[in-house]
Amino acid sequence: MRVIIENDADQVAKVAAFFVGQVIHENRPSKTKNPVLGLATGSTPLKLYEILIEQYKAGELSFAGVTTFNLDEYVGLPANHEQSYRNFMQRHLFDHIDIDPASTFLPSVSSPDLRQEGLRYDQRILEAGGIDLQLLGIGFDGHIGFNEPGSSLASPTRLKALTRQTRADNSRFFDSIDQVPKLSVTMGIGSILKAKQCLLLATGTQKQDAVQAMIEGPVSSRVPASALQLHPNTVVLLDEAAAAKLEFQDYYRDSESLQREIQPIAI
Ligand code: F6R
Repeated sequence: MRVIIENDADQVAKVAAFFVGQVIHENRPSKTKNPVLGLATGSTPLKLYEILIEQYKAGELSFAGVTTFNLDEYVGLPANHEQSYRNFMQRHLFDHIDIDPASTFLPSVSSPDLRQEGLRYDQRILEAGGIDLQLLGIGFDGHIGFNEPGSSLASPTRLKALTRQTRADNSRFFDSIDQVPKLSVTMGIGSILKAKQCLLLATGTQKQDAVQAMIEGPVSSRVPASALQLHPNTVVLLDEAAAAKLEFQDYYRDSESLQREIQPIAI
């Protein structure tokens, strides 16, 4: 794991935008294949999405030819519900950039056979050439996507129940916790681990424990994000607050300054 510690959430978003831009530039249609991004919802990537929109508007970045696959979608919300993840992505990113709407995918939650539908989602990702960069956030309980504690570390995209904790955390987007769906379809941990690169962002004091367990704890389904320790190319991008409980902070900082001498990050 490459652990990058930045001063604050704004800086985290800027560095994340550098990684996203790099993947898009490296995989332009004229090259080997179209860029494929895995995207996340939630509060953490909002600043990143704002920067990507600014870069597009400034003519610095184009999403033409880019395909996206989102991590998850709630089950049971009407398609046009304000809090559906499709709606979230339209409002916070897709409506403001030049991406082809037909190239933006979220797990389908309307099929009567969601198991089959999940497997089809993984297949569609494969057919697109696989995900070049998977963006991730982390839940307070260590979840990635909606892979809650106890999720198989080899899981495919599938139907998954949300924990009470996650429903309580996400109730800030709804009028009450009762309105938060109990089910989702989420990319599995096995699906996520197939991405060529993972980029997990975490900011704020509330993420300290989950971040520490993910990076320095044992690999365990108790902390689903710890499965990223098994991924050969994961970048964990943190602000000071989220990194505060890491035991080996000094090492991560030393290692990152050496890394940047070899591969500078231009922001
Ligand atoms: C979102 C997702 C979730 C969030 C996580 C953190 O698509 O899959 O795993 O990344 O719950 O959410 P925030 O960023 O709101 O703290």
